[in-house]
Amino acid sequence: MPRRVQLDGKPIVITGGGSGIGAATASACAAAGMPVVLAGRRIEPLEATRQTIVAAGGKAHVVPADVTQGDHAAELLDAAASEFGPPWAVFANAGRGLDRAGHATTDEDVRSIFEVNFFAAHTLLTEAARRMLAARSGGHLLACASCVSKFSPPYHGAYAATKAAQDLFCQAMRLELAPSGIHVSTVHPITTTTEFFDVSARVSGRSTERTGVHLTPKFFRQRPEQVANSILKCLRKPVPEVWTSVIVRLTAAMRALRPTLMDRQMRRMLDERRDGSDQGS
Ligand SMILES: NC(=O)c1ccc[n+]([C@@H]2O[C@H](COP(=O)([O-])OP(=O)(O)OC[C@H]3O[C@@H](n4cnc5c(N)ncnc54)[C@H](OP(=O)(O)O)[C@@H]3O)[C@@H](O)[C@H]2O)c1
Repeated sequence: MPRRVQLDGKPIVITGGGSGIGAATASACAAAGMPVVLAGRRIEPLEATRQTIVAAGGKAHVVPADVTQGDHAAELLDAAASEFGPPWAVFANAGRGLDRAGHATTDEDVRSIFEVNFFAAHTLLTEAARRMLAARSGGHLLACASCVSKFSPPYHGAYAATKAAQDLFCQAMRLELAPSGIHVSTVHPITTTTEFFDVSARVSGRSTERTGVHLTPKFFRQRPEQVANSILKCLRKPVPEVWTSVIVRLTAAMRALRPTLMDRQMRRMLDERRDGSDQGS
């Protein structure tokens, strides 16, 4: 059983830290005494999160960055180190969805979503791992996967594939890095009320009226603060996977055992969607 980690004064880098799960995690970590480095493309939400943290007595620093561009990982980790010292934890959280039928998805669609959800997370986490190994410091690497890293809803195959790739890559890294005192965890939120679904609808050219958040029963929706609290618990007491719904976790296990049952359930989502304005693609 891992010992409880004392977080006070240990810096964390969070990509996508200006909104949703990233911003809520930043606030929770800062309240626990962790200096927080926030990265994202839009300066305004990053700055708003920083101000909220500072007003509550925490420490935060903003690094505007597009995680799909250039040498963002090294630059971000360097900026974090010069502001607060080498990061103890890195949360690769920046990501987006794609709401499109598989047959209508182009290679370009798939490459583009993999760039942000998988390759950017891979680049950041592996760069952080090399630095932690060189410093023999230990640390904690986290990736924001999803419950759909274990099963794919219709119209979200490309998105689910990016999250499954993150999940599997991190599974192997966890075993490789454990002897060096570096924890690796994946986070598997269920539907969370953030900008995610609006952004996904926008890039997919869909109406924002009937996105996944509207099709998800209330019982399976949660606030980003709930995810953030589970992540904070994992930072204190590392676990391989952070789940925020026991029922969905059991559903994922059931999917592996009985795919036919799960397909039946998922077909209901298709029927609901076809009752709405969207058809087919
Ligand atoms: N909401 C859900 O139901 C749900 C469920 C499971 C998993 N997740 C995962 O949770 C993570 C956070 O999503 P969220 O729900 O909190 O939605 P969100 O509020 O839309 O957060 C996504 C964040 O990623 C940042 N981002 C996107 N592309 C970027 C890029 N190229 N470079 C830098 N930053 C980028 C965005 O900031 P900028 O636009 O300013 O760059 C934004 O702050 C994502 O990985 C998502 O896949 C979400």
